[in-house]
Amino acid sequence: MKPTDPEVEKMREAARAAMKNAYCEYSGFAVGAAVLTGAGEVFVGCNVENASYGLTMCAERNALFQAVAQGHRDLKAVVVVTPTEKPATPCGACRQAINEFNPDAEIFCFAENNVVEQFKLSELLPHAFGPRNLGRE
Ligand code: THU
Repeated sequence: MKPTDPEVEKMREAARAAMKNAYCEYSGFAVGAAVLTGAGEVFVGCNVENASYGLTMCAERNALFQAVAQGHRDLKAVVVVTPTEKPATPCGACRQAINEFNPDAEIFCFAENNVVEQFKLSELLPHAFGPRNLGRE
C-alpha cells in the first residue's frame, strides 16, 4: 500500500474527522485514527482522556476495538493523524494491541500538511510477544 492509495486517503479523511472529536481536556493533544479491514471497511477512533489520567484511551486502540466489536478481526492498515509538524507513531500499548491482529499491518502516520511516514507494524514492534507465544496463530 502507498499513502496515495484511495483507501488510505479515505482513512486519512475519516481519521481527521475523528480527531475533531478527541476528548483531550488534559493534554490538549488530539489524535484521530482509522483502521482498514481486509474486506475494506473503515473504523475510526479518537483519544478519550479522563480526570483519572491513566484511564485515557488512545485513538488507535479506540478504532481497533470498534472494528473488533463489530466482528472485524482481519486488520490490514492503521492511519494515525495528529495536528503536529512531524508525524507521530502509535504508542507502545497501541503497537501491542495492533500486533494481536496483524504483526504485518501497514501503519501510516500523517502530520499536518500531508507529511506522512509509513511503516510495517513489525518495524515499530520488532520481536513482539503475541498469540504465537501462547501457541495460537
Ligand atoms: N495518544 C494517542 O491517542 N495515541 C498515541 O499513539 C499516543 C498518544 C493520546 C493519549 C493522550 O490522550 C494524548 O495523546 C497525549 O498523550
